[in-house]
Amino acid sequence: MQTLHPSNASGRRKNYLPAIDCPLEGAQVKSFYLTTAIDYANGSPHLGHAYEKILADAIVRSRRMEGVPCHFVTGLDEHGQKVQETAERAGIPPQQLCDGVAEDFQSMCHLMQVHYDDYLRTTQPRHVATVRGILSKLYESGSIYKAPYNGLYSVRAERFVQEKDKVDGRWPEDFGEVIELREENYFFKMKEQRLWLIDFLQKNDSFIFPSYRQKQVLEFLAEPINDLCISRPKSRLSWGIELPFDSNYVTYVWFDALINYISAVGYGTERFNDFWPADVEVIGKDILVPAHAVYWPIMLRAIGLEMPRKLVVHGWWLAKGGEKMSKSVGNVVHPIDYAKVYGSDAFRYFVLSEMNVGQDSNFSHELFVARYRADLSNDLGNLLSRTVHMLDRYCESTVPAIEIKESQEEKLMDAAEKAIADTRECCRDFNFSGALAATFNLVRAANRYLESRSPWKLFGGNGEGNATASTSLAMCAECIRICASLLTPAMPAAAEKIFAQIGSEKCDDWRQLLWGNSLEGKRVGERTILFPRIGDE
Ligand code: MSP
Repeated sequence: MQTLHPSNASGRRKNYLPAIDCPLEGAQVKSFYLTTAIDYANGSPHLGHAYEKILADAIVRSRRMEGVPCHFVTGLDEHGQKVQETAERAGIPPQQLCDGVAEDFQSMCHLMQVHYDDYLRTTQPRHVATVRGILSKLYESGSIYKAPYNGLYSVRAERFVQEKDKVDGRWPEDFGEVIELREENYFFKMKEQRLWLIDFLQKNDSFIFPSYRQKQVLEFLAEPINDLCISRPKSRLSWGIELPFDSNYVTYVWFDALINYISAVGYGTERFNDFWPADVEVIGKDILVPAHAVYWPIMLRAIGLEMPRKLVVHGWWLAKGGEKMSKSVGNVVHPIDYAKVYGSDAFRYFVLSEMNVGQDSNFSHELFVARYRADLSNDLGNLLSRTVHMLDRYCESTVPAIEIKESQEEKLMDAAEKAIADTRECCRDFNFSGALAATFNLVRAANRYLESRSPWKLFGGNGEGNATASTSLAMCAECIRICASLLTPAMPAAAEKIFAQIGSEKCDDWRQLLWGNSLEGKRVGERTILFPRIGDE
């Protein structure tokens, strides 16, 4: 692997799609490095977690289809007050709690076909050592200093609170007694970086996707910012990474967690240059400001590292009526149950096609069922099963040649070429909803074509009729092959099954995906129902 540093003149040119926003000319070989938020270890996986990891997985799979070497990291955020409290309530050591939660999140990923390359847990020695190394470096360079902190402290909630936390002018019940507390803490210098950060964002106006989120960050930066308190006294919180220069304190959880993006790829070792900067960091909108758009760039600058190339910020999944999902309201969607009942391909299809990255979406069971039926069982499932069924029945289970080319065939070929171009472009733009719509346009065009050719009426007639009929099945088989390839990032297992049924090799390189006659003479596989019909439960 070559280093990515611009000064590395010997770096080989990329022969694949450039990293996002990085011009092809002059770009050098490095893995397309994608990270996601690391999930908090104080709960179980929910729809938001599942969606983010599926989105990340689809981005990586689509880059791999373009021949780009990728490295995909996700993980678990294990330290902090909430984890400590959850473990205390459960009467177990925090590490034991985290071990169980890590298993739950990893098995959710496996069930959802999220194929990460690395899973970083913030209690792993490689991460702890990196955080401590960085803290020492920043302390020595004067970016971290100690100072007294005066504030209002809730004894029951065990945290500093602010006047704005008051409800109707009173402290909420669960704060218990609120006292004035003076505490010594360590601070990371951020204040004086504000103007640099504004300048960086103005010069890199596609740093945050979608771009309107970048404006929100600039609005936030219009006001002065404070230095960041990066320590917690052990008397209040013990579950954290001990500061290397003061054993009475642990590290603030966000400062610890953000470093995962570099500890996962060997910060401080040679290998690191094969990955950093991250090409894409996928996060939800709630953790953009200030964590990823303010703390993280300033931390990276202090460490002396390049900024990630892009933050992809997705919106929130809300319950049916647009409300926040909550256990007490009872409107929580359980992604694992959906994947178990309807299959993870169907679940992935729904969330990727339903959410426009950036905006919020409502999850409704009725809509899930409607789309499952209309798109998957009917449009895609019917095209596949009718085509394979007729190939079995009329063509000795073998894909015939495309013998004739009339305007109907030309039209379908154009539709296929458009679907390939549009799907690839949408995937590059993180627009999976658009990508799936483009692919399904081809599915529907093929269904209409099949209906209009009606090969079942032509077989057994005269020679010309037979040629038209067999051509129409070969045309549909070719469309199905193309659709399977285009669906691979969103529905990897279903795509493989479709290839097998149509007697095709897997096509997992979009640079080779062209309309052709590659299936001629191929024997179709065993017919199975990919998306069984579902009842009105
Ligand atoms: N641990 C922090 C992230 C640290 S990254 C250095 C965290 N964890 S989280 O478990 O609360 O959230 C993990 C990710 O899931 C975040 O990107 C968050 O935005 C996303 N989601 C959590 N709930 C969500 C929805 N309801 N909908 C979509 N995604 C949301 O934040």
